[in-house]
Amino acid sequence: MHTEVCLVLFSFLFLHNTESLRPPGVKTETFLSAPFYLKPGQVANKYYYNIPYPKGHIAVKSFNGEVVDEYGNSIPLHETYLHHWIVERYYGLKDSAPGVENDLSKIILVRNSGLCKHTLKQYYGLGSETRKTDTWIPDPYGIVVGNPEEVPSGYEERWLLNLHAIDTRGVTDRLGCTECRCNLYNVTVDEDGDKIQANYIGGLNCCYDETQCKLREGFESVTRKLFLKYTVEWVEWEPRIVPVKVYILDITDTGTGSDSCNVEYEVKECNSEERKNGDCIDTQITRLVMPHGGDIIYGVAHQHSGGAGSALYGQDGRLLCTSIPSYGNGKEAGNEENYIVGMSTCYPKPGSVKIADGETLTLISNYSSNQMHTGVMGLFYVLVAEEDRPLLGPPKNMICFNSLLTWCIEMSVKTGAVFIAGATLISIATMSLYKLHRKNQYEALATARGMVSHPKKRIHYV
Ligand SMILES: *[C@@H]1O[C@H](CO)[C@@H](O)[C@H](O)[C@H]1NC(C)=O
Ligand SMILES: *[C@@H]1O[C@H](CO)[C@@H](O)[C@H](O)[C@H]1NC(C)=O
Repeated sequence: MHTEVCLVLFSFLFLHNTESLRPPGVKTETFLSAPFYLKPGQVANKYYYNIPYPKGHIAVKSFNGEVVDEYGNSIPLHETYLHHWIVERYYGLKDSAPGVENDLSKIILVRNSGLCKHTLKQYYGLGSETRKTDTWIPDPYGIVVGNPEEVPSGYEERWLLNLHAIDTRGVTDRLGCTECRCNLYNVTVDEDGDKIQANYIGGLNCCYDETQCKLREGFESVTRKLFLKYTVEWVEWEPRIVPVKVYILDITDTGTGSDSCNVEYEVKECNSEERKNGDCIDTQITRLVMPHGGDIIYGVAHQHSGGAGSALYGQDGRLLCTSIPSYGNGKEAGNEENYIVGMSTCYPKPGSVKIADGETLTLISNYSSNQMHTGVMGLFYVLVAEEDRPLLGPPKNMICFNSLLTWCIEMSVKTGAVFIAGATLISIATMSLYKLHRKNQYEALATARGMVSHPKKRIHYV
């Protein structure tokens, strides 16, 4: 009788244990940005200050988003191309009136730890790959933010979103519009009114907010009301969490001074010789000095259409991380043909991939040069833990297992040896499962990521 009770309880715990793919305490919240409006062929490059964001001293575990319409439908990239969304951290004046935020002299940006001085300040940022790129940070790591002790008095920590989207319904040249070809946008000056250089064929200077890409003659369609829907996962801060630093490395970074990151670059079409030899790959290489080292916990590259992979190497040539784009092969959101719909990520076993203080890293970005590409990017995000990883105690439900086991054995002793045998068997099974669980804990969390669908808990409008 007691054995039966034990077995029932054990199977309940086993089931419970295998189904909880996230560590306990992870909170999930989904938000909507303020709306933006797009006519066919139009560009939106918006900045939203003080966006909804989890409050308090927390460790962010993941951040992802996608473009949806006012009915909540996911919008495919061939209709609204998501060039990028970027989330930056800053300190804003506590009692500032709405709008004052836009005065950049009144806010204090909190940059990531990366090497570019004037660009790429964000904590998170993705583009077309946003729907299928893993951003989960495994335990015990997290991006620790919201510590009130770090905020200057009179300020509070806030977040801003920069969103750059290009509507390509009815355009004459989808790739050209998404690569911001200046001729398709019929612009001669950039956003600041400066003349665009004749040798600048395409890139961000030609597809700024409210510019218009060339449409097919007579094409008409509705203006769309769109949002960035973004989901943040986090845990409350606790001493056991090991903070990671965010580094964003840029392939155009010459590493030579204050304004060394151009962020975008151009891929020239290969010549006939290269085409004959099947060598239509453009490889860019840059070397960058990391001021501080540590353990690489996560890595991912950001590339545009045509991207063929990116890799990061240590000073001695050892491979630190490779990130490869995956292209869609259909029409539906998340699987759009010819678009990068996801980037592969690196989850090294903690402690196994280290970089030293002052180490020179080599970054490589490959693109197909079967055709010209303008305004492409070669970024590499790395999360680095400077502290050593603390030893993790057994998960809570394992402690529960053990006390239950003790109870079962006690009961069994009273009712006979048969039950001791049963309890011992269960005990062995528990321990081996526990060992398996510990062994797989790290990988399991990483791979589980894609399988978990997040319930929409709350939707906030700005
Ligand atoms: C391009 O811009 C010029 C002025 O800058 C304007 O006169 C012309 O109509 C535009 N062409 C198209 C196709 O929009
Ligand atoms: C980049 O391209 C070069 C040359 O084709 C190749 O040797 C290298 O393995 C590629 N690296 C990645 C990360 O794709």
